[in-house]
Amino acid sequence: METLSIGVLASGRGSNFQAIIDAIDSGYLKAHIVLLITDNPNAYAIERAQKHAIETLILTPKLFASRNDYFKKIAEELKVREVGLVILAGFMRVVGKPLVDAYRYRIMNIHPALLPSFPGLHGQSQALEYGVKISGCTVHFVDEGVDTGPIIIQAAVPAFFDDTEDALSERILRLEHRIFPEAIRLFAENRLEVVGRKVNIYGEIREISALLNPRITT
Ligand code: GRF
Repeated sequence: METLSIGVLASGRGSNFQAIIDAIDSGYLKAHIVLLITDNPNAYAIERAQKHAIETLILTPKLFASRNDYFKKIAEELKVREVGLVILAGFMRVVGKPLVDAYRYRIMNIHPALLPSFPGLHGQSQALEYGVKISGCTVHFVDEGVDTGPIIIQAAVPAFFDDTEDALSERILRLEHRIFPEAIRLFAENRLEVVGRKVNIYGEIREISALLNPRITT
């Protein structure tokens, strides 16, 4: 099987980006990251890319005539490098139609809540304010909506009465770093099929159920 080429879009610190780099380095995930695109010239993700000799493009939306033009350009840069899977790793924009169309069911996002609850910004504080007892994270394919695409993997953590946004975010983040590489691995192994709005996972899924319990290492 050909090695999967990944393009990453990130706007900030890029800890999920790092988790994917580490999963590749350790041999857990057979893929290579060919490009980082960021909309933020100050993103710490840029330093992470440099450390690993990953090509980086800084594309600032305000330099484009329209949102569509911006996402058309991103799609072109990814296509030219034969990217097979696009990863949104803390990319703080709603993906425009030209990119969604060019990479239908080949764009993955991670969201820090159990979708369809608490989509959009600040999923963790939305969940705390609502008073949920369980929250978590979701890896999903990206469609035209905001955090609405077919769900690939979810993992859950407890939420406490006196939790802070930081504490809950940290608890969730630890699982993000595990389920994102896992979802990408399933994609790389051609084990995901989108059926309507559901994702069917082929083969052994024991490792995914284990991820629901953060104390079990897989
Ligand atoms: C994560 O909480 C992720 O769920 C959300 O944005 C944050 C990105 O963090 N989409 P990082 O840049 O990967 O550290």
